[in-house]
Amino acid sequence: MAAEKQSIHGVWGSRWIFILAATGSAVGLGNIWKFPYIAGENGGGAFVLVYLLCIAIVGIPIMMGEVLIGRRGRNSPINAMRALALEAQASPFWKYVGWMGAIAGLLILSYYSVIAGWAIIYIFRLGSGQFESADAATVQNAFDGLLADPIMLTALHTLFMVMTMVVVARGVNRGLEAAIRILMPALFVLLAILLGYSVTSGAFEQGAKFLFDFDFSKLSSESILIALGHAFFTLSLGMGAIMVYGAYMPKKASIGSTVLIVAGMDTLVALVAGLAIFPIVFANNMEPGAGPGLLFVTLPIAFGQMPGGMIFGSLFFLLVTFAAWSSSISLIEPLVAWVVEKGLMNRNKAALLLGVITWSLGLGTVVSFNVGSDVSFLMGKNFFDSLDYLTANIMLPLGGLLVAIFAGWTMKRTTVEKELNMASYGVYALWTITVRLISPAAVIVVMIWTLFQEQIKAMLGW
Ligand code: TRP
Repeated sequence: MAAEKQSIHGVWGSRWIFILAATGSAVGLGNIWKFPYIAGENGGGAFVLVYLLCIAIVGIPIMMGEVLIGRRGRNSPINAMRALALEAQASPFWKYVGWMGAIAGLLILSYYSVIAGWAIIYIFRLGSGQFESADAATVQNAFDGLLADPIMLTALHTLFMVMTMVVVARGVNRGLEAAIRILMPALFVLLAILLGYSVTSGAFEQGAKFLFDFDFSKLSSESILIALGHAFFTLSLGMGAIMVYGAYMPKKASIGSTVLIVAGMDTLVALVAGLAIFPIVFANNMEPGAGPGLLFVTLPIAFGQMPGGMIFGSLFFLLVTFAAWSSSISLIEPLVAWVVEKGLMNRNKAALLLGVITWSLGLGTVVSFNVGSDVSFLMGKNFFDSLDYLTANIMLPLGGLLVAIFAGWTMKRTTVEKELNMASYGVYALWTITVRLISPAAVIVVMIWTLFQEQIKAMLGW
């Protein structure tokens, strides 16, 4: 009975719509804004290698697990996990994994929206010609000025939250599908133009070397946790976003190949963004470890020097905004879907209520770039850094770990086999071993080592 069930929220038109939607969720600020700056802060090459390994041996198997759980459960992650746990005669407490994910999504969206707001204003800053032939210091000052202005940041954050909640309120089928069909290819084209520019002007070799030279002496154990956390973040894993999109996936589509396409596109966009940004960093004698402002300083400099750069630049930030938009809706959809399934209120009201809560929390991020920058929460980090660390490096890996255990050990094997419907038994066996042992082991070792290494070292007398 459960196998033929459909989600009350709708079904994607085809497998390709699922791929577009999942890619739209995965490709976002994580790829274009976050990946380059954390790669820069963590020394480049070695970090990139660890990140790629995490995508391959942790991200892809767990993404398959999420799609599988979602499509079989045909409900919000909370209800899907509960139902599948009952089907397997396991504890209904598995639903709390769904809960942790739903909360992580809300927390991430609260700061994601603030950063997306920066991209919105840069559409206009570039478009107005403000950065035409500007030098690095001018562009840096313009960015610092934005961060120092809480009113402006709040206005932009508000705008982006409204955009997000309107789409969520309309439901995923109406509106969004049509938009991403045009926007995703356009983003690829603009990234290619930018890549072309950075290849031909200046320090491409130095930039590429920075990204792909594997110097392990620069890698700290904290960097490994950051790489792992980012693998989850960039693939939208560990909180139920891909799971809820899986719930709207047509029955016949093959999960394995679909997931490979999504993960491949996501990785490609991140690497191209890095290859576009770092040559510009080196050509202008800037710091690769400049932090969250990297994208908003390097690219305006490059666009300022290119012919037609103001138009391309403006378009580029428009597309960054759209990439963020198609991601942000997946951050809140699991919670909205749950509220609707519970019958607590209709979709409009659920979107409004959850939007207001998320928006309020976002104000904490707004002030952590200016008046509240010295207020520390977690380990001396400000509000934004604490929230980012807590969600990306702790909640997502933990959620992913539990999803792997659930898909690998808890779910009924016949259900898993039927849902994955793998053509080759070898590939199925490989997935099973990975999701049962290798991915959980990788997550556990990295988390325990990074979080408790002082204690472990003391215990072993190192
Ligand atoms: N993957 C998106 C990005 O890279 C962000 C995102 C969307 C996300 N949904 C998510 C991150 C769910 C973690 C979990 O920008």
